[in-house]
Amino acid sequence: MIQSLLVFVLSLHIVTALIYGSDAPGRKPYIVYMGDLPGAETSVVDDHHNILLTAIGDEEVARESKIYSYGKSFNGFAARLLPGEVERISNSEGVVSVFPNTLHQLHTTRSWDFLGMPKTLIRNFKTESNIIIGFLDTGIWVNAPSFDDKGYGPIPAKWKGICVKGANFTGCNRKVIGARYFNLDSSDPGTKNASPVDNDGHGTHTSSTAAGIHVKGASLYGIAKGTARGGVPSARLAMYKVCWTFGCSDMDLLAGFDHAIADGVDLISVSIGGEPRDFFQDPIAIGTFHAMKKGILTSCSAGNDGPYTSTVQNVAPWILTVAASGIDRQFKTLTNLNNGKKFSGIAINTFSPKRKMYPLISGALAVNVTSDSYGNASSCDYGTLDKNKVKGKIVYCLGNGGQDYTIKELGGAGAIMVLDAMTDIAYTFLVPGTLVIPKDGKKIEHYINTTKNPQAVIRKTRTLNVRAPFVASFSSRGPQTVSLNILKPDIAAPGLDILAGYSKLASVTGESIDKRHAVFNIVSGTSMACPHATGAAAYVKSFHPDWSPAAIKSALMTTATPMKIKDVDAELASGSGEINPTKAVHPGLIYDISSTAYIRFLCKEGYNSTAIGLLVGGKKKYECSEFKAAPGTDGLNYPNMHTQLKSGSSKFFATFHRTVTEVGSGKSVYKATVKSQRGLSVSVLPRTLNFDRLNQKKSFKVVVKGGFEQNGPQILSALLEWNDSTHSVRSHILIYRATA
Ligand SMILES: *[C@@H]1O[C@H](CO)[C@@H](O)[C@H](O)[C@H]1NC(C)=O
Ligand SMILES: *[C@@H]1O[C@H](CO)[C@@H](O)[C@H](O)[C@H]1NC(C)=O
Ligand SMILES: *[C@@H]1O[C@H](CO)[C@@H](O)[C@H](O)[C@H]1NC(C)=O
Ligand SMILES: *[C@@H]1O[C@H](CO)[C@@H](O)[C@H](O)[C@H]1NC(C)=O
Ligand SMILES: *[C@@H]1O[C@H](CO)[C@@H](O)[C@H](O)[C@H]1NC(C)=O
Ligand SMILES: *[C@@H]1O[C@H](CO)[C@@H](O)[C@H](O)[C@H]1NC(C)=O
Repeated sequence: MIQSLLVFVLSLHIVTALIYGSDAPGRKPYIVYMGDLPGAETSVVDDHHNILLTAIGDEEVARESKIYSYGKSFNGFAARLLPGEVERISNSEGVVSVFPNTLHQLHTTRSWDFLGMPKTLIRNFKTESNIIIGFLDTGIWVNAPSFDDKGYGPIPAKWKGICVKGANFTGCNRKVIGARYFNLDSSDPGTKNASPVDNDGHGTHTSSTAAGIHVKGASLYGIAKGTARGGVPSARLAMYKVCWTFGCSDMDLLAGFDHAIADGVDLISVSIGGEPRDFFQDPIAIGTFHAMKKGILTSCSAGNDGPYTSTVQNVAPWILTVAASGIDRQFKTLTNLNNGKKFSGIAINTFSPKRKMYPLISGALAVNVTSDSYGNASSCDYGTLDKNKVKGKIVYCLGNGGQDYTIKELGGAGAIMVLDAMTDIAYTFLVPGTLVIPKDGKKIEHYINTTKNPQAVIRKTRTLNVRAPFVASFSSRGPQTVSLNILKPDIAAPGLDILAGYSKLASVTGESIDKRHAVFNIVSGTSMACPHATGAAAYVKSFHPDWSPAAIKSALMTTATPMKIKDVDAELASGSGEINPTKAVHPGLIYDISSTAYIRFLCKEGYNSTAIGLLVGGKKKYECSEFKAAPGTDGLNYPNMHTQLKSGSSKFFATFHRTVTEVGSGKSVYKATVKSQRGLSVSVLPRTLNFDRLNQKKSFKVVVKGGFEQNGPQILSALLEWNDSTHSVRSHILIYRATA
């Protein structure tokens, strides 16, 4: 009796809490961002509680509504709030911004040889092994061969992070030196039994791409066989798991940055993105800003929404925004018909055929006549096919995604799918499968329709050399939509069909019906490009440990190889071009940017003094007027030069002021040359820069004039090169006119 009463009381309490407490209907998670950390004498936790209490009124509800306090690297908190409370908190002293918690998404090896970094490359082993790269990702599978710590020295003394153990995660080693997870959004089913383990494969793939060790004979079921390795094999890794089943929440991303910066990482890599928004309502812009203030460069993926324009993400100027390029290797899968014809398609088929030929049928002919599905049998839509007609056969399907799942479930022997959109990605299928172009598809279908016993076989994938680099079709393009005068993406790196480490807890395709598990996998996305740039940045840092984030970024950008442009829009996709890590170690000149210069830029972008004061931190009140630029140094000292014009504009005139720092031989003479498109006139003043000593700075200005033709192209571009006959320091100039 007493026991049941107790249960009753407890449940009553829960019910009240649900209605009136922190979980009341309408309460939603928000992030309250408060800029830099206050002085040591202030307790941020008390401060956060007081703000909540003032806005909410009830002590207990205020306590329960708080989800998390950030206070290691920047100031802020996450809490469940009602609309009125959001407004009251927005007006509280010390608050920069309040924004709802949203979800970000993942931007789902020969590549280093291709980038001119052979295995025999000169390395700064001692410094390199002291570099720690932090990843915000899906976790890590430490047992992957890429993370074997044999031969590694002790963990760098500067490391302040920890290794959190948990489900399927027994600990770290001297390669993977730190691992944590953040699962503040408890509505995600993936956060149950949480640990830093990688159940997805993405985090293991990105981190081994940047810093995996040399692994001989790596391949995916024999495909793409070779030595797999990261850009800086001696560097250390720290994983901050912030992505779960539904995605990566703002709250978790911020917690990841808060800890990574405080733990002492040297670089951060984030292959995650979302709709671009105001910098201080965007967890990635906020986190990377505070990382930059501590001298940490963050590289981020540009997004996978190409070939459409205005799709680039992670566009804050202190981020290294990375586009995806194709390398000189393509995966081809051959289909032979029994009539001797053969067709080649871009796909990854890990299966070797067990028989010479298999019966072949089309989805149209394998239709389930009694099916109640509204789907289309020609496209092999789910539920439209007859199991008995599919079993043991290769099925030809119009449509290029998901058919392999249906065919596998029905016991088919393979799937030939038809490419209906531009793709250069080789997808891995669940059954023997390939993609063919529509013209070849027609021929295969004709053969099926006109042959008594049509038969075919799909061969295991082979690799082929192709001309490269080129921008991957899916890589997001500019112009960016937040800071219109900063060209994004910044740079391109390999992101197409990349072989790297994988988690054995995930299947090769990520589908549970797939029973293939591998320690290496081939994946595409700007997610894969980003860690290549991170690895390259770490390589540069191992030679120049004292360079600022902007200096490293400048070195990578001005030494990149301009990309061959196939379509006009691709110019909005590749930034400075393909990274060239070995050249980036000796850039000659750098375009440096200090934290103060970024603050000045934010003032120009319209952030007011209150917000600026909080970002700078400290007690002193700041006014944007205090950050006035010296005459002739207006604007951000960005390595590229960019302006967006309104639609209908014709004549334009723009001046860019820049300052370069001599980091090469000390005494040098640089001469400017410009290659520009018709319709664009570029003059550089002065045209010669004389340097007498190392670290000397020289300023110049670039005046750009021209006119767009009424129905002409929307882009006019030029390339500025400073050359001292040893170094070539390149800047892209791109003027964009918006469409009506
Ligand atoms: C741990 O790994 C096993 C497979 O080895 C898997 O079935 C299980 O779901 C994993 N648990 C967690 C919490 O990741
Ligand atoms: C055909 O579709 C019906 C209705 O969806 C289903 O019950 C039946 O099992 C299917 N037949 C075959 C042979 O797949
Ligand atoms: C089925 O899909 C194919 C290819 O997408 C299309 O050509 C055809 O018209 C569709 N048929 C029906 C009945 O919708
Ligand atoms: C093959 O036959 C199917 C079903 O009868 C028909 O829809 C399709 O158009 C035919 N295709 C060719 C290339 O003959
Ligand atoms: C700055 O902006 C915030 C919010 O946009 C506003 O509440 C505040 O009053 C502004 N401060 C000044 C000094 O203009
Ligand atoms: C610039 O310098 C490079 C050496 O890095 C040299 O090969 C090249 O010809 C020079 N280009 C120009 C335009 O002077």
